[in-house]
Amino acid sequence: MPAFYLQTQQKHFIQLYVGFKYAYLKLSSQNMENKELAKVQKMLHEQGYITEDSIVMSVFLAMQLNKPLLIEGPAGVGKTEIAKVMASALETDLIRLQCYEGLDAPQALYEWNYQRQLLYLKMDEQSSKSVEEKEQTLFGENFLLKRPLLQAITHHKAPVLLIDEVDRADEEFESFLLEVLSDWQITIPEIGTIQATHKPYVVVTSNRVREISEALRRRCMYLWITYPTFEKELNIVRGKVPQIDAKLADQICGFMQEVRKMRLQKIPGIAETLDWAMALTSLHIDHLDKKIVEDTLGIVLKDWQDIRHTQDSLSELFEKVGVIQKLS
Ligand SMILES: Nc1ncnc2c1ncn2[C@@H]1O[C@H](COP(=O)(O)OP(=O)(O)OP(=O)(O)O)[C@@H](O)[C@H]1O
Ligand SMILES: [Mg+2]
Repeated sequence: MPAFYLQTQQKHFIQLYVGFKYAYLKLSSQNMENKELAKVQKMLHEQGYITEDSIVMSVFLAMQLNKPLLIEGPAGVGKTEIAKVMASALETDLIRLQCYEGLDAPQALYEWNYQRQLLYLKMDEQSSKSVEEKEQTLFGENFLLKRPLLQAITHHKAPVLLIDEVDRADEEFESFLLEVLSDWQITIPEIGTIQATHKPYVVVTSNRVREISEALRRRCMYLWITYPTFEKELNIVRGKVPQIDAKLADQICGFMQEVRKMRLQKIPGIAETLDWAMALTSLHIDHLDKKIVEDTLGIVLKDWQDIRHTQDSLSELFEKVGVIQKLS
């Protein structure tokens, strides 16, 4: 057999081998990833959280890459709940920093227990301790009030740190937050620098009251959650209100889908659907009718104009949802 033929054969064989090996490695890494994804999905489902692929992937990647997960979306779609279910699934504590206008670094990090310090000074008036000694005691850990960020950094096990509604805090606070999220250390002048022993899993939520800075976005994994599909909401309702009548659950979720398409001041979220489902079930109601909807619309809508507008469109809404009913 000519030598060049053998060489070509060898080359083909090597190419084939490399190709197979590459495909095998790719497949097995995909398999691993899929298994991990399935694990995260199971973990969230077991805590009663109904997911879709984008949520599972984001939670998985945020945990895998140890990056904060920034979740944006309208009110009541399950942003905060993700942090809660993550904490229960990981069997760790949830530490929550609720943001609001005027929130500043001390309220998020630590404060000195001023009253206790005063009391200590009063009780120690007669002691022969030097000023330095007293000062050392006064600014020691016993008088330190740990606020959420310091709590998260010093926690014995990696907690889930929920920085809720970050868009309500001022921009300066956001820059300060960035520092903490990048270094995971906090310097207390009187005590020294405290480095995180276990990096927390961080979930940051925003309702887009204010645009979040590019710098914070870049540092996070991003997840957008919007209003649920009919199927997703039905699963949530069935999961959270298991005793609900099947037909009523269908009608409620169908009704919510249609209501959300209307021009409203405040579009209801999943929280409102669940409240409505629970309220109607506790009243032993098994289907919607005009009177029931009119009497309980205040659970779903929180604005009088929205309520009036919806009441005016009830026949149309019922028709779309398929509620067969005499409306007068
Ligand atoms: N995917 C889901 N699976 C199960 N329950 C859910 C899901 N999404 C939302 N819920 C339920 O809906 C309610 C509202 O969720 P949550 O408080 O997390 O909303 P949010 O997006 O943080 O709202 P807000 O912007 O008003 O703070 C909770 O009771 C939660 O249990
Ligand atoms: Mg929330």
